[in-house]
Amino acid sequence: MRHDVRRYCAVGMLVIGMCLHAVAGSSAETSPWVVADIDKLPKDDWGNTVRYGRDLMTRTFALIGPEVADPAMRLSGNNLACSNCHLEAGTKQFGLPLVGVYSDFPNYRARSGSVGTIEDRIQGCMTRSQNGKRLPPEGAELTAMVAYLKFLADGYKVGAATFGRGAGAMPELSRAADPVHGAEVFGQICAICHGADGLGKRAGKVGDAGGYEFPPLWGPDSFNDGAGMNRLISGANFVHSNMPNGANWRETVLSPDDAWDVMAYVQAQPRPHFAKVASDFPKGLEKPVDTGYGPYADGFSQDDHRFGPFAPIRAKIKALKADGAVAK
Ligand code: HEC
Ligand code: HEC
Repeated sequence: MRHDVRRYCAVGMLVIGMCLHAVAGSSAETSPWVVADIDKLPKDDWGNTVRYGRDLMTRTFALIGPEVADPAMRLSGNNLACSNCHLEAGTKQFGLPLVGVYSDFPNYRARSGSVGTIEDRIQGCMTRSQNGKRLPPEGAELTAMVAYLKFLADGYKVGAATFGRGAGAMPELSRAADPVHGAEVFGQICAICHGADGLGKRAGKVGDAGGYEFPPLWGPDSFNDGAGMNRLISGANFVHSNMPNGANWRETVLSPDDAWDVMAYVQAQPRPHFAKVASDFPKGLEKPVDTGYGPYADGFSQDDHRFGPFAPIRAKIKALKADGAVAK
């Protein structure tokens, strides 16, 4: 449904306002997309802390990356920036934005099977997307990141949905995603920036903590296999809404089929392993259908979960829940 509206929206600027309204009106209460101006913050302690938080997200590699001069500050395990995925410093609609997110925490997290804080969520991306260490809980870095998230949620109501959050929800396939076709799409569209070997292109030299002009999509300096970007639904929607870099949810470039297939190919490539995946999702029936690692409580195989189709898995989980099966 949403996808149809989106296509219609692309027809002309004139109707975009109407379309947005139609989409927004179809869900529960939503907050309008408002991004506060960071340059208007005074140069006092608060303003400086928020700006440090922003810099930590856009220049993660230079401030807390594995190549920084001070060994104690080498907290991220790879040379990515948070903003390689949370695009435009976390302000782009359907570019995994961080706008309004602060108002949604603490919340129940299926991955841990418990209620988690915004700090826990940041640590999740530190240890998985950044393949690194947890930030020291009392340190200036975690405080600054939380301050930036609070700043980005200024005016957002606690608990209200934010239209534009996440990476979108394009139609799903009724077939399994096809990494062989995905390899072709990769060669035709993605390789020019991310490299035919998927290892990206450094901004400077290895060792200079300069990060990437085009970030790697797999290999030793990429996100690890426990990261959200390594799940097909999350990854394929991100790519559909944002890649090639510059695309956006109103003007997509990839067809949904190509987006599913290319991300299936990317996720089938080698990447660092997250040692603690086995303890994720302690309640088995709460595991997202596109989690690439077991155990699975629904009887479907690892490949079914990695490539889909997902509707049969959801139907099975629903039936098991209705049967009162204990999540295990
Ligand atoms: C490789 C891509 C990637 C990188 C790099 C990354 N993240 Fe994330 N992040 C994600 C994905 C994907 C999700 C959504 C995960 C999910 O669906 O559960 C997410 C979710 C989040 C959320 C919750 C958002 C919400 O809508 O609830 C926060 C906060 C966050 N990340 C912070 C960070 C911070 C801070 C960094 C850098 C230290 C970072 N992330 C680096 C991919 C990334
Ligand atoms: C025009 C160059 C360009 C093309 C083409 C392109 N990307 Fe990207 N991609 C980027 C840049 C630049 C970023 C980081 C964006 C930022 O930091 O603002 C990125 C980020 C990403 C990320 C998240 C960061 C990471 O390292 O995992 C993924 C996943 C991704 N691209 C996948 C793809 C796929 C799949 C394709 C092909 C369909 C593609 N991209 C095509 C330039 C490109």
